[in-house]
Amino acid sequence: LIGYPVEKSLSPDIHNLSFEINGIDGAYVALEVKPQDLGEAVGGIRALGIKGVNVTIPHKVEIIRHLDELDQEAELLGAVNTVKNIGGKLKGYNTDGRGFVELLKSSGVELKDKRVLMLGAGGASRAIAMSLGLEGVEEICILNRTEEKSKALAEEISSKIQGVSAVHKLCDPESYDLVVNCTSVGMYPDVSKVPLDVELLSERCVVADIVYKPLKTEFLARAEARGLKTVEGLGMLINQALLSEEIWTERDIEKEAVLEEFKKR
Ligand code: ATR
Repeated sequence: LIGYPVEKSLSPDIHNLSFEINGIDGAYVALEVKPQDLGEAVGGIRALGIKGVNVTIPHKVEIIRHLDELDQEAELLGAVNTVKNIGGKLKGYNTDGRGFVELLKSSGVELKDKRVLMLGAGGASRAIAMSLGLEGVEEICILNRTEEKSKALAEEISSKIQGVSAVHKLCDPESYDLVVNCTSVGMYPDVSKVPLDVELLSERCVVADIVYKPLKTEFLARAEARGLKTVEGLGMLINQALLSEEIWTERDIEKEAVLEEFKKR
């Protein structure tokens, strides 16, 4: 992992645990790279023959000019969180949104032609909204405390992904099939806060939260108490991390066991 700072990242713990569970002969380390050293650090990936890296703040956009190729999602987002070294050629990917989408699909949630309500318009919201758009959802409504950001994001999604209607004003909360909290509301230490009243949602609505500290946010607890299906943030984080491993190793990675073991730690 390259970023600045990196010391609080959970990525080394997640990946080294997965390497053990999945029998991968590898080691994952977090390396602090200052912005002015990014070019040299990327050269080092080639020179040292490092198989792959994750990229985090502040390098996700800047790194693109040092890479040889981008996959579709990284191109659309203009941001990279995963790099694969293919015989010295570096290809950039972004698993931030796809990790979430694949977790939903593996939990049996259908996305095609569905209506999605996104809360928040930051980096996580943008990545997830883009991946949901690529899955063919019908409508994405983005709500944010700062309305200019949700307006800009809705316009960007509508213009980049054909067939998806993206809006930034709440119509009828009951009409949504999926709600995703992409704000930090409910995150430790303000654990009693919720980003939306779950009573407004229909009974078929799936409720997901990117916050993973606490594991079960108040928002998810209230949704569960109403009998709605919920998706926890830690699952999303781990799925997104393990998708990088699938890119690097070109094999299927067992994810459920990693999630369960990680929860025990
Ligand atoms: P990330 O990369 O996790 O998406 P981010 O880009 O900083 O992080 O985005 C944080 C999101 O949480 C934003 O949508 C932010 O709203 P603003 O754009 O108005 O700042 C939202 N957010 C953070 N704290 C919030 C709060 N107390 N109430 C409502 N929204 C909040």
